[in-house]
Parts: sequence; C-alpha cells; structure tokens
Amino acid sequence: MPKSNLPSRLQTRLLRSAKRVMKNAHAPYSKFRVGAAILLSNGKVFTGCNVENASYGMTNCAERTAIFSAVAQLGPKIEIRAVSVINDQGVPCSPCGACRQVIYEFGPDATILFQGADGPRQAHITELLPEGFRLQ
Ligand code: THU
Repeated sequence: MPKSNLPSRLQTRLLRSAKRVMKNAHAPYSKFRVGAAILLSNGKVFTGCNVENASYGMTNCAERTAIFSAVAQLGPKIEIRAVSVINDQGVPCSPCGACRQVIYEFGPDATILFQGADGPRQAHITELLPEGFRLQ
C-alpha cells in the first residue's frame, strides 16, 4: 500500500484552513457543517464547504467545492497533493464515494486527512478508492 505522510506544518495549515471555511457551510437540512482544504503540488491551498439545497440531491460536498474552486481559478492542470476534511461535530467523516473519485481525477497520489473511527487519520487516496476510474 502506498505510504502517505504529510509534514506536520502542512497538516496544521490544511486543518486550520478547513476549519475556517467550515463556518461558511450552507447546511440547513443536515445541520452537519463540513470544511475541506486542498494542497496543490504548486503549494497553493484552496478551500470549500458543503452547500446544500432544498432539492437534496443538488448538495455539493466541501471537498468538491474546494476542488472545483481550484480548477475555476487555475484551470484543469492542477495536482492535488493533500486534502483535509473537518466537520463541526467532531465525528468520523471521510470523503464520500463521489468525492473520492473527484479527488482521484486530480490527485491520484493524494494524501487524505480526516476523522476516522479511532481518531484523526491519514490515508492514500487509492486506499480509500481502490481501482479508481480513469478514461483513457
Ligand atoms: N458532506 C461533505 O461535505 N463532505 C463529506 O466528506 C461527507 C458529507 C456533507 C454533505 C451534506 O451536506 C452533509 O455533509 C451531510 O451528508
């Protein structure tokens, strides 16, 4: 299994950014606020929160908000080095299946920092998403 280990200063930076943006979440339906921060290989950090909708299925997760924001700003040639996810209830929360596939598109070697069942965890994206889909 690929080993993932992000320097602690970067972990701290990403967690702080995710926590800050979490406050902007639009989560009136689930009342579950989520923040995500992504670190690109060029050193830039982008953030996102979950944005829910009265038509529940239109909800966008925090992770995808952050990634789409980075693509909108920089174009599609971004490489995600790490993603951190945080929620306002301190409960286990790893990226959903849809977000794992979107992370994989731009970060096939990304490290994911999240709250696992036994506390904070780091995992390689391919550990969370084995056999991710690529079109080529
Ligand atoms: N959510 C995220 O934003 N990221 C995750 O990793 C898990 C779930 C959001 C979607 C929805 O707004 C709320 O959490 C409850 O599912």
